[in-house]
Amino acid sequence: MKDRTNAPIGIFDSGIGGLTVAKAVMEELPHEDIIYFGDTARVPYGIKSEKTIQLYARQITKFLLEKEVKMVLIACNTVSASALQSVVDLVNGLPVLDVITAGTEAALTDSSRKVGVIGTLATIGSHAYEKALKAKNADLDVVSRACPLLVPLAEEGWIDNEVAQRTLRIYLSPFNQQKPDTLILGCTHYPLFKDAIRKEMQSSEIRIIDSALSIAQSTRKTLDRHNLRNPQSDQGSFQCYVSDKPQRFQQLAERFLGRNIPDVHIVSLS
Ligand code: DGL
Repeated sequence: MKDRTNAPIGIFDSGIGGLTVAKAVMEELPHEDIIYFGDTARVPYGIKSEKTIQLYARQITKFLLEKEVKMVLIACNTVSASALQSVVDLVNGLPVLDVITAGTEAALTDSSRKVGVIGTLATIGSHAYEKALKAKNADLDVVSRACPLLVPLAEEGWIDNEVAQRTLRIYLSPFNQQKPDTLILGCTHYPLFKDAIRKEMQSSEIRIIDSALSIAQSTRKTLDRHNLRNPQSDQGSFQCYVSDKPQRFQQLAERFLGRNIPDVHIVSLS
């Protein structure tokens, strides 16, 4: 069988949100090469139908397979909720990890009683988190809220200004009455607002779950299980592909990742 250890890990999202996952993977696995795809021409996904999200997910998976990735990380909750199977069906047995499974595992502890979930309209409408959480603990109380304006704000780089703060206040205020002990950031764009979210939550004890760390740890375990770790001692490369506006993506991504991204390539998938 072909040695795939040197092959890159494929990570994708509708836009910059999946960089929260890419960053965690770079920290957990510094010698792995990464290919990232952000579908900047078609973001946001969260307001689209399941059928459309599945089509986009299949197109991106085919692109990553052309790049000969050794595993696929779905760094988008919306795709994880609506199109996980579409990705799994295409990859010929390559490992596929998704952020909903990772976020659910990270959220559940022995002391969890009430879990809040925020996400896109598609993710919250699918009840994917509720089902995944209750499958592990049927007594859990789950309270959810869709926050559709946060993705366009993040794509605009408006993560800590007055508009972002007011929007968060409106979206998060019900949780201050419902008082969950845990809040899952069920969209990979939302960790960009983590500090502002913490400020809005009145309980300082609430656990805020960002699935990036958890999926990065699962990636390490999966690579080890399949003997797929890249043996190189150099820092892994990071190649970015987007479907529109590469310069803009590059600026936002460099600001967020705190490292240079030499080339952001543009590709057309359809
Ligand atoms: N970051 C994505 C997610 O986790 C996608 C959001 C969107 O495109 O609406 O759901």
